[in-house]
Amino acid sequence: MANKERVTFGSKLGVILATVGCAVGLGSIWRFPYMVGENGGAAFLLVFIICTILLGLPIMITEFFIGRHSRSNAAGAFKVLAPGTKWSLIGYNGVLAAFLILGFYSVVSGWTLEYIWQAMTGSLEGKTAAEFTEDFHAFSSSIFRPIFWMIVFVVLTHVIIVFGVEKGIERASKIMMPALFLILILLCVRSVTLPNVSEGLNFFFKPDFGKITSSVVLSAMGQTFFSLSIGMGCLITYASYFGKETNLQTTAIEVTVLNTLVALLAGVMVFPAVFSFGIEPTVGPELVFITLPNIFEQLPFGSLWSFVFFILLALAALTSTISLHEVSTAYIHEEYHMSRNKAAWIVSIGVILIGAICSLSFGVLKEFTIGGLIIFDALDFLTAKIMMPLGGMMICIFVGTRIEKKVLKEELTNKGSIPFYFFNTYAFFIKYLAPVAIGVIFLNELGIFK
Ligand code: PFF
Repeated sequence: MANKERVTFGSKLGVILATVGCAVGLGSIWRFPYMVGENGGAAFLLVFIICTILLGLPIMITEFFIGRHSRSNAAGAFKVLAPGTKWSLIGYNGVLAAFLILGFYSVVSGWTLEYIWQAMTGSLEGKTAAEFTEDFHAFSSSIFRPIFWMIVFVVLTHVIIVFGVEKGIERASKIMMPALFLILILLCVRSVTLPNVSEGLNFFFKPDFGKITSSVVLSAMGQTFFSLSIGMGCLITYASYFGKETNLQTTAIEVTVLNTLVALLAGVMVFPAVFSFGIEPTVGPELVFITLPNIFEQLPFGSLWSFVFFILLALAALTSTISLHEVSTAYIHEEYHMSRNKAAWIVSIGVILIGAICSLSFGVLKEFTIGGLIIFDALDFLTAKIMMPLGGMMICIFVGTRIEKKVLKEELTNKGSIPFYFFNTYAFFIKYLAPVAIGVIFLNELGIFK
């Protein structure tokens, strides 16, 4: 429930770093490129950017409002703002989504640890593009190794959540996030100076409007929600720790811009190389993992670069898994009055179980599909393309219909001390445009308009 004595993030930079850490992660660097690859390239990029501006930014500001105004976790927030109503279902949807995302996200995070290991032991050296692909398949479809790394990652996350050493992570992020940025730029430069890159650049930047289908639009919307961490209460939980003086508007803009920049850099890093090395852009979740080692091979001291890169990627993933874990842990801890320690254990054990099933779905459980998707993909689909947009839609309807405009404006302008120039446009977006747009995208995907 509401707790006026809640801890808050220390510094302004701390607020931004933690929130950027939550948003920037595997979503931009691993998921974004393969979504672009599977959904027709630049056409997807275009819809993604439109969704980011029209839905992503306003919804992020709205979640910041809910979090700081209620000073409560994702589910509790709705109980504070609308006691005795069913609106807290939005929070439960979010807590469940966070838990499920953490399940498959931990598997991919584990893959980054395997690549750190391989870089350390020199096993990424002297291979052809075909061998990188083959080796990745052998690894990801095996039983024990990927599960082992997944468990290591969940344990790391657990330790940070329980011992509250976020401060250390915050401090490390101050150096490591800019470092990740720099190394992405370096890899972009290497990628665009490979032979035959124009095909890759055209694929990423030159939209073929004929490719914008209902499923491309749904995927782009899903990517927006996933990569900005919106629609599921994660940012509500984080904003509940924001201080009174935090500027919610500029924080949202900074996080959105940085996150989009990282995604763009990831695209420029991946696609020229994909076409140059003859990799299929439609291969799916493995795309980054089979493309990057090829780029590192082209650099002097390739193993060293790949070692540094995967460490930074693992850290970016860790700041996101911490936030996902925190959503579920804070919920169980505060709503069931259980110790944080116990709550964290429940979450970690549950996540390891789901993670193991997701990991096995690349190998022994491959034949077990839901709607034609392996379990890993099905969970990704369910959370990113259904639960998060649905959550975002309900968040908008909630604030649009239940919160007085005056209250909303006061919170977003820190009681009038900072301006909000486009407040009416923003209010219109969240009350009408966003819910209708998300609804139409859902219905369109179901084929209602055909
Ligand atoms: N936005 C994160 C990423 O792009 O890697 C993933 C994520 C983190 C989604 C936290 C949702 C969330 F609550």
